[in-house]
Amino acid sequence: MEFPTYVRNEKLKAWVQELAALCQPDQVYWCDGSQKEYDQMCLTLIDAGTFIKLNETKRPNSFLARSDPSDVARVEDRTFICSVSKDSAGPTNNWMDPREMKAILHKLFDGSMRGRTMYVVPFSMGPIGSSLSHIGVELTDSPYVVVNMRIMTRMGRQVLEVLGEHGEFVPCLHSVGAPLERGQKDVPWPCNKEHKYIVHFPEERAIWSYGSGYGGNALLGKKCFALRIASVLGRDEGWLAEHMLILGVESPQGEKTYVAAAFPSACGKTNFAMLIPPPAFDGWKVTTVGDDIAWIKPGPDGQLYAINPEAGYFGVAPGTSDKSNPNAMAACSRNTIFTNVALTPDGDVWWEGMTETKPPKLIDWQGQPWTPDSDRKAAHPNARFTAPANQAPCIDPDWENPRGVPIKAFIFGGRRSSVIPLVYQAFNWNYGVYLAATMGSETTAAAAGQVGVVRRDPFAMLPFCGYHMASYFNYWLNFGRMIPNPPRIFGVNWFRKDENGNFIWPGFGENMRVLKWIVDRVNGRAIGIESPLGRVPRYEDIDWRGMEDFTHEQFQELMAVDREEWVEEVLSHEELFFKLYDRLPKELIFIRELILSALWRSPERWRFGLGGNGNELAN
Ligand code: OXD
Ligand code: MN
Repeated sequence: MEFPTYVRNEKLKAWVQELAALCQPDQVYWCDGSQKEYDQMCLTLIDAGTFIKLNETKRPNSFLARSDPSDVARVEDRTFICSVSKDSAGPTNNWMDPREMKAILHKLFDGSMRGRTMYVVPFSMGPIGSSLSHIGVELTDSPYVVVNMRIMTRMGRQVLEVLGEHGEFVPCLHSVGAPLERGQKDVPWPCNKEHKYIVHFPEERAIWSYGSGYGGNALLGKKCFALRIASVLGRDEGWLAEHMLILGVESPQGEKTYVAAAFPSACGKTNFAMLIPPPAFDGWKVTTVGDDIAWIKPGPDGQLYAINPEAGYFGVAPGTSDKSNPNAMAACSRNTIFTNVALTPDGDVWWEGMTETKPPKLIDWQGQPWTPDSDRKAAHPNARFTAPANQAPCIDPDWENPRGVPIKAFIFGGRRSSVIPLVYQAFNWNYGVYLAATMGSETTAAAAGQVGVVRRDPFAMLPFCGYHMASYFNYWLNFGRMIPNPPRIFGVNWFRKDENGNFIWPGFGENMRVLKWIVDRVNGRAIGIESPLGRVPRYEDIDWRGMEDFTHEQFQELMAVDREEWVEEVLSHEELFFKLYDRLPKELIFIRELILSALWRSPERWRFGLGGNGNELAN
């Protein structure tokens, strides 16, 4: 096999050679990551029918792809952590013996790229050359994956230059699993309907993905590397890989505070990361470092520093609008790949929630004519845009700082229509770990399966932790002990509903009010009182400028802690704890006891100023 002269890493050469022999592509192509190469590949994708070029005036240099209707989301039930022992993967991951899995995969990958090109995609997760960054190389037979990877990561020849002769890389193998026999015509979205395997070998730090071309199943830098493999790397090397956005809050006085926030998939992470403060918050600014993943490491000064390992947004399109997230709309206004959204007659895109009135005529995500009377959605609920991160006007000036940005608070939130208050601060780090470990969320369309049921999603990492979840809790507990002044931990819930099923809290830009309280707390402007769950703001602790019509009573409703509901909630924590019992840190059991006793000592429905344990006055 011939290699470009700049490829100097023998391990990489040997690996590519070995896998090319297994997958038998017609050719092997080394991606240089240039604009010219990207443009050329987009043309190839148009010829193949995968891409439709969008209106150059309305959506410059942008494309629409429609996936196979069977390949529209991450497939968690086909995702495996194949550690040497089953115990290391833990009960929340699918596991198979790595030798057994390798045997299956070797059979599937044997000849899997026949009739296709194998693209070699070198990429850096994190700014090239940063000590917080890591290199991966993806071999894929999907040009759609290549162009998405060029947006989502720093990709190309310069990465191989940093890798040098002896650098380490995470090998990522991907095939859509649809070899072409001689003369066989390709389809616009090749995939394998029968077999899908998204497999991680944590000890080997390797990823093998077969059968899907969609999102996290195929763009292997994202969930597979930056979360599942990186969580293992982080545990072994003393850092954290988290399913967190990173944002900066700047006060009118120029005080800058960075926070990282974990929410399960499709809970508005991109919206929160790109929040625009309400008009009354004159001079306040929120800037975005990342919208999905954070890599976090203690710095020399003992503070935690975070980078966004990605270089683009793979955002959920439905619900995104000039009203809900103008920054995301600007980010995907050009140079963007759309997947599974609807097409307008003038060659632009549309999705549910983009505009108040539906366009009279569209082509839906499956290529069928659509009108507002159609009884189906025009865009798939998990339709996405892939857009360069720096196209968001709110991008933080330090988003590519190789040292990362200092993190002052961790925020954990789920989608809960009841039970969980708008915001509360954990009493200390261990309580915070408990809060995060037991967080739950009503499921969404980001993953295949039932939508709308509460599932425990510890740290929003349930589908993304590459090892035993209880060991991960323990790692977090220890991590807090190692740093002198760890970030404060908060729980939030934007999604609480009243008895008529309406959201009590408006969310979006108004979340700034909660963020401001959090920033005030971590910067020592101590305000709030104790609730059974942790410290909470009183009505008067929230800045209501421009939202004065939100009443005391509404706020009480949003913040109430109902004993009966919480007893049930704690019982469902038990369910998770029993599952993880063999490795569960005992601290979490003690904290559960403390929470229960605080609940029993407080009124049936805890609200401010209604008695309780007497702590309400303590500030
Ligand atoms: C995502 C997800 O795509 O969490 O970010 O599913
Ligand atoms: Mn995510």
